[in-house]
Amino acid sequence: MPKFYKFFLALLFTLIISWFTWQIPAAFAATESETSLRTLAEKRGILIGAAVDMKALKSDSKYGEVLAREFNAILPENAMKLILLHPERDRYNFTDTDILMDFAKTHQMQVHGHPLIWHYAVPQWLESGNFTREQFIEILHDYIKTVVTRYRGQIKVWYVVNESINRDGSLEDSIWLRKIGPEYIDLAYRWVHELDPEARLFYNEYSAEEVGQKADAVYQLLQGLIQRGVPIHGVGLQMHKDVDWSSAPQLIENMKKLAALGLDISITEMDIYIKEGFGNQQQALEKQAQIYEDTLQACLSIPQCVYFSIWGFSDRYTWAASWRGSQGAPLIFDEQYRPKPAYYAMQKVLRRE
Ligand code: G3I
Repeated sequence: MPKFYKFFLALLFTLIISWFTWQIPAAFAATESETSLRTLAEKRGILIGAAVDMKALKSDSKYGEVLAREFNAILPENAMKLILLHPERDRYNFTDTDILMDFAKTHQMQVHGHPLIWHYAVPQWLESGNFTREQFIEILHDYIKTVVTRYRGQIKVWYVVNESINRDGSLEDSIWLRKIGPEYIDLAYRWVHELDPEARLFYNEYSAEEVGQKADAVYQLLQGLIQRGVPIHGVGLQMHKDVDWSSAPQLIENMKKLAALGLDISITEMDIYIKEGFGNQQQALEKQAQIYEDTLQACLSIPQCVYFSIWGFSDRYTWAASWRGSQGAPLIFDEQYRPKPAYYAMQKVLRRE
């Protein structure tokens, strides 16, 4: 074969291989983003979100890629906690929250602020500081002012108070309750509203999804705020559950009751922990998927349920390992970012008419 033909064939072969190398992944990428939870949720007009682990976002490019593809809203898992944001009395650290804001802007995602006031993750300088009630009120006000003003217009929803109620319905012990009294809750909502009147202000709680003593106490707290004219617009139900959970009808009943108060509702921290001994792996994954499906369906069935957020998204990064002692595979992607049955269950619900 003449040299010229050999060269021509080699060139043609290279071009064909390169075309496949570029086109095939591109075709898959297009398919993935067309059917992503984010795309499907946008067609339904709802926000689908995830809590963000900043260490993962900064070190694992795949994490950011899946996050941006699948979700249109984010909230920081830890970065906005007082202990990290205001570690010393005269020092703030906004590095991670600023990175999160930039990421959201680049990928057109809504950012929610979590949590502004919590009894946990309080820095040592505040826990052990010997401040008077007036000083505590001033510290709380300064903190809220600094954070809310910095992100005014960028944070659309604030979870102003987080987990202020115990399982028996009493107020959770906290440095705010001890030093200021129960009125810290009213003060916080009023201040945030003054500083950013456009932001939607939510209350966030765990184990208040089903009707019962704790849900009643949350209802009373919210009703009291409304009656006193405190600006409150919504309530977040966390949904940290085990795989044997089966209370979707109660969740719906509770959501309707809260919606009747005139509040928006969000599922804020969903994850479904697989307990050891729950059937085989396949059964556990299917039951987990069913709970994600039922919960998302419950949210879509209530017009006031405007936001559905998972506490992370990949089992590679989950709070369960550090807090519950074992990983529990509670999320919708596995550790290699492969979609689990729970992911497909959510896709199915979002496609349903
Ligand atoms: O980043 C430090 C690391 O530098 C240090 O070496 C290590 C040693 O303990 O701690 C690391 O910080 C941990 C942080 O998570 C980041 O991983 C904290 O100890 C740990 O307490 C913290 O746990 C978080 C927890 O809230 C307390 O703030 C979990 O990740 C987070 O998922 C969890 O989230 C809460 C919501 O805010 C409210 N609702 C319940 C939910 C689950 O508990």
